[in-house]
Amino acid sequence: MIGALWWEGQHSPWSPNFDAQPLNEKVVGATSGPVFQGGKLFHDKGCLNCHLIQGFGGRRGPELTYIADKLTRDNLVIRIVNGGTNMPAFGSSLKPGELDDLVAFLETRKRPIRPQDQAKETASSATSTFK
Ligand code: HEC
Repeated sequence: MIGALWWEGQHSPWSPNFDAQPLNEKVVGATSGPVFQGGKLFHDKGCLNCHLIQGFGGRRGPELTYIADKLTRDNLVIRIVNGGTNMPAFGSSLKPGELDDLVAFLETRKRPIRPQDQAKETASSATSTFK
């Protein structure tokens, strides 16, 4: 982390990825509805130029692959509307419906429960049943 900050300090502080391609269906996880629209807006509004989702996008801002594990819906809205250090505020450039769709999309960005963890949970509840 310190290395990355140093690198940014020594080199261009502005390194968005202007070639970011729209996110594919598999990454977005929906083919219609608000999550789908939000995934599309995430590209069209330029979020993807600065943010990585599952390895796609840019590295100007923090990776957002699992952002819903960290930020609540309200915090997502606040950040998008107000921007931040080196992030533009989108409050005036998004229609209310667009903001809702973007947030719906970001709310699905959670770390999945891994199959082995699920198995473990089942195994431990089974153990407690037979204690
Ligand atoms: C010019 C680059 C840039 C663009 C475009 C951009 N962001 Fe950001 N974003 C950042 C940076 C840099 C931060 C960290 C800012 C800070 O900590 O103050 C950030 C922070 C965030 C965070 C909080 C991340 C965290 O870990 O707390 C969210 C959520 C977010 N951006 C969503 C979006 C969305 C949605 C869009 C599009 C509507 C967008 N960003 C567009 C650069 C950008």
